[in-house]
Amino acid sequence: MRLIKIFIFFLSLFPTFYLVYGTFTDNLGANPIEKILHETGFWALIFLMITLSVTPLRKIKGLNKIINLRRMLGLFAFFYVVLHFLVYLGLDRLLDWDEIVKDITKRPYITVGFSAFLMLIPLAVTSTKGWMKKLGKRWQKLHRLIYVAGVLGVIHFWWLVKKDITDPLIFAIILTGLLGIRIYFALVKKKHLKV
Ligand code: HEM
Repeated sequence: MRLIKIFIFFLSLFPTFYLVYGTFTDNLGANPIEKILHETGFWALIFLMITLSVTPLRKIKGLNKIINLRRMLGLFAFFYVVLHFLVYLGLDRLLDWDEIVKDITKRPYITVGFSAFLMLIPLAVTSTKGWMKKLGKRWQKLHRLIYVAGVLGVIHFWWLVKKDITDPLIFAIILTGLLGIRIYFALVKKKHLKV
């Protein structure tokens, strides 16, 4: 598991390497800031979906151990959201705070993206074993926020695309599937407890 974890760690950093390399070699196209903003947002959403897939995948025989990867994958989702937000603040909006506040309060897709970002902060902070112990059952409840963040992330994406909704639609279908599986297992568990 240790080797797999190291391998996935470096694999997860690949989009960052690609963006850093592309920046230094001037290979990110005509609008590098837009490209970086789009890539970081895209990878944030990908990692959110991968993190949400861990629990359902554990039900498959032999895959139980992937739980050891969940924290790292969730933190990568947070890492890409932070990068995305920093690129927006520093490169897209050039730290123009009036514009940034106006965006967050007046442009619905930014409001929604920002809310998703805020939700991920307590999850990243409490992702350690120490917090898990300290919060007990409340930890699981708190970490259900990742679903809300996922839904808001997809809405954010859906709202910002102008014409072709194929990509956000794919994310919406995946998320609905992942939520559906969760609800199904919760209902089955409840039924067994009643019997
Ligand atoms: C969980 C949080 C977030 C997720 C998952 C997310 C995801 C995304 C995705 C998938 C895209 C489009 C990428 C593409 O076109 O391929 C995007 C674009 C964008 N996001 Fe986010 N985002 C999040 C938070 C934020 C926040 C906090 C801000 C700023 C306050 C923000 C501002 C933007 C902007 C300005 C764009 C580009 C819009 C355009 O092209 O017109 N996002 N984001």
